[in-house]
Amino acid sequence: MTRQEFLSTLGLGAAFVLTTNCLSSCAKDSNSGPVDFTIDLSDANYATLKTNGNYLVINGTVVAKTTAGEYVAATVTCSHQGQKQVTYDKANNNYYCTAHGARFDLQGGGLNNTGSGGLTVYKTTLTGTSLRVFS
Ligand code: FES
Repeated sequence: MTRQEFLSTLGLGAAFVLTTNCLSSCAKDSNSGPVDFTIDLSDANYATLKTNGNYLVINGTVVAKTTAGEYVAATVTCSHQGQKQVTYDKANNNYYCTAHGARFDLQGGGLNNTGSGGLTVYKTTLTGTSLRVFS
């Protein structure tokens, strides 16, 4: 018996399944565990981070080199509805979620209604070519 057949026998339809799946995956992120990793900017995989205004998503973290040349980092998970779609927007020098348009400043403060929940940001330190991102 498949899961759907089983649920059908209980009188529950697809709406229940969709609701249950959404409740478990659409909830706001609880991805607030400690973050601590180091990348070597001389590694070709991270070469894009040598250019001001670029960013990468690494280990669920948006790591960006701002338009001013500063390294910043934040969770990729948006506080609005938990979508993992936060990016760094170099045109505005802030974080932007492509799901519903939430914007956050580089300190994690919300800049609009969808961003009002704020964003978890992390510290960075650069030693030579080693960039550490940590909470
Ligand atoms: S989940 Fe990011 S704006 Fe809605």
